[in-house]
Amino acid sequence: MKNNFLNLLLGLMATLSVAAQTNAIKVGADGKSWDITTCSSGYRLEVSAKGEINAICFGNRLNLERTGRATVAEIPVRGGYVSGTPMMEVVFPDGVRDIELEYRAFEIVTVDGYSALKITQSDKYYPLEVSSWIRVLPEYDMIEKWVEVVNTGKKGSIRVENLLSGSVSLPKDAYELTHYSGVWGYEFTPQTTKLTQGVKTIQVKDFKSYGSSSFMVRPEGENDKYAGKVWFGSLKYSGNWRIDFDKSFAGNVQIVGGMNFWDQEVNLKPGQSFTTPRMLFGFTERGAEGVTESLVSYTREKLLPAVHRDQLRPVLYNSWYATTFNVNEEHQLALAKVAQELGVEMFVIDDGWFRGRVNDKAGLGDWTVDKNKFPNGLKPMIEKINAMGLDFGIWIEPEMVNPNSDLYRAHPDWVFHFPNRQRHEGRNQLILNLAREDVCQYLYKSFSALLKENNIKFIKWDMNKVLTDPGWTSASADEQRTVRIKYVENLYRLVETLRKEFPDVWFENCSSGGGRIDLAMMSRFDFNWVSDNTDPVDRIFIQDSYLTLFPANTMISWVTQEDWHRQNPSLEYKFDVCMAGVLGVGYDITKWDDQQKKAATEKIAQYKFIRETVQKGDVYRIISPYEGNRSILQYTDKNRKKAIVFMYQMAEYHANTIEEVQRTPLVKLRGLLPEAHYHIEGVNDAFTGKYLMEVGIEFPLRGAYKSKIYELIAVE
Ligand code: DGJ
Repeated sequence: MKNNFLNLLLGLMATLSVAAQTNAIKVGADGKSWDITTCSSGYRLEVSAKGEINAICFGNRLNLERTGRATVAEIPVRGGYVSGTPMMEVVFPDGVRDIELEYRAFEIVTVDGYSALKITQSDKYYPLEVSSWIRVLPEYDMIEKWVEVVNTGKKGSIRVENLLSGSVSLPKDAYELTHYSGVWGYEFTPQTTKLTQGVKTIQVKDFKSYGSSSFMVRPEGENDKYAGKVWFGSLKYSGNWRIDFDKSFAGNVQIVGGMNFWDQEVNLKPGQSFTTPRMLFGFTERGAEGVTESLVSYTREKLLPAVHRDQLRPVLYNSWYATTFNVNEEHQLALAKVAQELGVEMFVIDDGWFRGRVNDKAGLGDWTVDKNKFPNGLKPMIEKINAMGLDFGIWIEPEMVNPNSDLYRAHPDWVFHFPNRQRHEGRNQLILNLAREDVCQYLYKSFSALLKENNIKFIKWDMNKVLTDPGWTSASADEQRTVRIKYVENLYRLVETLRKEFPDVWFENCSSGGGRIDLAMMSRFDFNWVSDNTDPVDRIFIQDSYLTLFPANTMISWVTQEDWHRQNPSLEYKFDVCMAGVLGVGYDITKWDDQQKKAATEKIAQYKFIRETVQKGDVYRIISPYEGNRSILQYTDKNRKKAIVFMYQMAEYHANTIEEVQRTPLVKLRGLLPEAHYHIEGVNDAFTGKYLMEVGIEFPLRGAYKSKIYELIAVE
């Protein structure tokens, strides 16, 4: 009976979602205007009398009713009056630099299950065809924009000096921008700034972000977490990117973003085309919580690699903090044995296992096992680890080479470099030029062989140097400055090819911590190493921001001996922090005493009990660490019958200080069933969902570095 009802409900939801998609793009009676709607937003495009494609502001559905409204070009170009930031700048073969676009045709097609509007324009005189795409994701309150350009001529190249993915304009107002930037060890730090007349740019120029292209724009002064208008977005790209927030004196704000064309150009020969990456733009009236819900559900439900999308992530052990480069079979097996006793499911050997890798000065590029450290190869060790009941994973850094390696000695021209210029090393390494096909083939063969020869179920893919010296000496002059674009294309291809060949292998994305986390990587990797900073207090901040933008089942967090602020937090506290994502352990656990082992075993067992809710549930950031000295995260099952609440106290307010005594003790939860009664493990009492959401539960922690995990189960 229950199942029948569920099937009926699912059927109804599927019908509604199809209906929402069918209605998502409405074509005007004259066939020259389009209304695009998501659950909360409205966006209208029109062909003007002059044949230009104009858009009215992106925002709530009332936009569609505006009369006498200001319009802006859907694709602002270099040409004519200068207004706003152009998305497109080209030079035609005769040296003309202005573009004049004119409407040609439209089409509504289905792209990966969602309706997309494709509008084609072309230059009035020159052979340039431009198709702009808008794919509508109604239930996520987002639209996705990208552009394809073609040289339809017979001779002469068109030089593309800039081509962004999409632009939207906001209604006139005073706005504040929040974006997430950082440096190594302090990833995803939220930054909020007023938008004033001029351009605020967020960008990456060296392949490393330590932050995100995701942003939120709100009317000035509005900061209710659960209500209010928010425009948001994110770019699906892992190379250099740029997003401009361009405000006019009159108060219009244009948001425009895509690949960063700084020191980059594409030359389109006759018949050649170029497509930009996709940029998401969203609008919600449910405050920052609405943004999190849209971005996180979309990533979890549509983007993550399908093969592992719905699988629970294993509990990991990673050897880096225990051994650094000093790895050998005996010690790895000793670590694995203890890991297995604690309840770990996946044992990962980090850096140090390959030929010549005695320290960070040598070895990168030579991807066969180091016979000095593993005289019998990896196989016997993996077999023993598997016999313990553990899966085995391994660290690689495909994109890099140490000058002290056989690979570099044989192919010094395979790295990014300019003749007569210094090759800038970082961590004693250089970047391989993945734009070259021979480099890609070498990497593919190396890792395909590694995965074929060994029972490896997990790859940690690292990338530790920023991009310098982007010279591609063997390319033609025309191709030189596409090097970054080709690199990223080939990086994606390499990962995709390996994943296709080895479908059950999990892939972790790492870049000196969280240096390259974005929605394009999310669609190719199962999870991310978020930061090299594993200090639990710093981690609470980093995790809070990460969980604003990305799903918890992509956030790997290890319990390690790191204690950056010398506060000596307890092992239990560290576990409670790491249990908010995909739990891992990184200590030298062979040195643990019985008490530590007992504590870890209990915590891992508790994690396994709550893991489904943590990894698959909806996240509510009840209190952010940026608001005070505590952090509270709530995870709730889809059916709302189980919730896990992580409570963390940090250092600043000590027990019985004025700040602590005066702080409100009640914590209001979110997203529960109002009428249901929830039993709270450890409190031994039951409360209605309504009570927990409107009155709240008592914050149970006193003193510094304390934590508590509440498990709430609906009992009736
Ligand atoms: C940087 C990563 O962020 C670390 O976790 C570790 O894998 C090291 N590289 C290894 O060299």
